[in-house]
Amino acid sequence: MRDAENSQVLADSPFERVGGHPTLQAICERFYDLMDQDPAYADLRAMHAPDLSMMRALLPQFLAGWAGGPRDWFEANPGKCMMSMHAPFPIGRQTADQWADAMTRAIAETDLADREIANAMADVLGRMARGMARE
Ligand code: HEM
Repeated sequence: MRDAENSQVLADSPFERVGGHPTLQAICERFYDLMDQDPAYADLRAMHAPDLSMMRALLPQFLAGWAGGPRDWFEANPGKCMMSMHAPFPIGRQTADQWADAMTRAIAETDLADREIANAMADVLGRMARGMARE
């Protein structure tokens, strides 16, 4: 009974509703392509390492667990808090806005299963990014 309840919760999770890992991977590929190529995100790009391949793997992994899917990132990083993990980076209003804007565009431009939940994710992720700004 308990397993049935749990799988019901998983089936309705934002992770499942947007289309699972392939969709989150596609969103993140688009997000880092935008960050890499659009001069509007130059400040944000400059804060990251030259090679974005680790981030292209880690962000979808984090988003999967965050959205109610497989928790690999959280299991690999027990007790790690995304907000405090970003504390060493000099995140200001401008770079937080760049992150939020690139993510909103990436989600809008990705072909996915449930637009309503995807828009809600874009909204919450934007708020999370802006919550990391310290000036
Ligand atoms: C507010 C704007 C943000 C800035 C400027 C920023 C910047 C960074 C930087 C510089 C890194 C280190 C990667 C590298 O050196 O190449 C990083 C790692 C990371 N960021 Fe952000 N970030 C922001 C917001 C977010 C948000 C909102 C999330 C999640 C929704 C996120 C998820 C991650 C993840 C998963 C990692 C890798 C963590 C790991 O080591 O597993 N970031 N971020």
